[in-house]
Amino acid sequence: MIKRSRLHNLLLAEEQRFADTHPRSQELFIRAQRSLLAGVPMPWMVRWAGPFPVFVAEGKGAHFTDVDGHDYIDFCLGDTGAMTGHAPDATVQAMVAQLHKGLTFMLPGEDAIWVGEELARRFGLPYWQIAMTATDANRFAIRLARHITKRPKVLVYNYCYHGTVDEAFVALDANGVPGPRPGNIGPPVNPTLTTKVIEFNDVAALEAALAPGDVACVLAEPAMTNIGIILPDPGYHAALREITRRTGTLLIIDETHTICTGPGGYTAAYGLKPDMLVIGKPIGGGMPVAAYGLSDVVAAQVRDSIARDEADTGGIGGTLSGNALALAATRATLEHVLTQAYYDRSIALAERFMAGVQGVIEEFGVPWNVQRLGNRAEYWFRREPARNGGEAVAALDADLDRFMHLWALNRGILMTPFHNMALIAPDTTMADVDRHTSVFRAAVAALVGDGERSLF
Ligand SMILES: Cc1ncc(COP(=O)(O)O)c(C=O)c1O
Repeated sequence: MIKRSRLHNLLLAEEQRFADTHPRSQELFIRAQRSLLAGVPMPWMVRWAGPFPVFVAEGKGAHFTDVDGHDYIDFCLGDTGAMTGHAPDATVQAMVAQLHKGLTFMLPGEDAIWVGEELARRFGLPYWQIAMTATDANRFAIRLARHITKRPKVLVYNYCYHGTVDEAFVALDANGVPGPRPGNIGPPVNPTLTTKVIEFNDVAALEAALAPGDVACVLAEPAMTNIGIILPDPGYHAALREITRRTGTLLIIDETHTICTGPGGYTAAYGLKPDMLVIGKPIGGGMPVAAYGLSDVVAAQVRDSIARDEADTGGIGGTLSGNALALAATRATLEHVLTQAYYDRSIALAERFMAGVQGVIEEFGVPWNVQRLGNRAEYWFRREPARNGGEAVAALDADLDRFMHLWALNRGILMTPFHNMALIAPDTTMADVDRHTSVFRAAVAALVGDGERSLF
């Protein structure tokens, strides 16, 4: 029902509109190409929907402005790193106070204990360690799992994302054969040597993969969030826990994105009992900080097996990790920003966001669906929600994706790049959500060609 030629023409028009209205960003991009590889500080930033990225001036709450003076509703929110909204007051105040008292010491302070206690209360795991990023926390958790179990392999889901963790850059091809994920840059070894990969929600595949007893840990998002939102089938988590326990495999739950579910993530909301848990991104209100929790049993095994005189050479480290500034930010963010009241309000707005998108899908009869988990909502270009990464990836449509993002961006809305995800911050308003619905409706109207494009 969406003609490719129409899509192509619409995309060209949006690219032109973007270039015309973002002259200062374009200027900066041209300058950036002289000192930054491909004109961007990170390789993936070349994938923003426009012909060049928007350069940011500043942000506060759920909005930011660019160097051309445009205001945006930010539904991307740093892909969860700024789920708290930009520069949340409580976090900023705590950070400013800490800035005058020193940033990094390689020594603990009381904030570290407060954070450990609070994470234990929220997630139910008694012992905690701090890292700089969720990527690091995942790497460290995998190391500990291998160390304890003496097993070589890790198991992940097809089209998962856990940060730049080598073991997790593996995927099944269209015939179900595992190999390096497309785009994997310089894998140290073929990831099939380190990793087993199965589809999410496939209990039989899980059983078969863990039966040989060579898997140290399953690294799992409790619901997949990086290839659309893929919810677990009823009973899947009970099966995952039972099979991992029976086969002596540790279960690491990565809550870095699913912290959108509630103050204790999906784990607290659904009573999961992981052996380890990883959390990162929003807990520092935008300040880089992550943490991983250990069960009583895992903690005892780790404590008993690491000699004090070798504790600094185990491959788990980072002199800047757990610094005083990051912990002051985390304490303030957990205490004052990521509160139950925030979740109550933002989940209601995410429901409204979803209902708006659903209404447009039904109005125009496009074969898409919208899913929600807590205060995160996402639409996907297939009629039924995907049950696993393979199904989701088969529905990717790069041009359509680019068009939807650019259409929104040209009308003051930033969605999470590379998929169609929106997060709700404490300061996101009903008007912000409704603005998305009307911009989304106009995009779909333009695509199916009922002449409503002139509305915008
Ligand atoms: C589930 C999950 N885990 C870990 C990470 C890595 O986070 P970071 O990039 O902050 O290291 C991400 C990043 O998107 C993620 O989605």
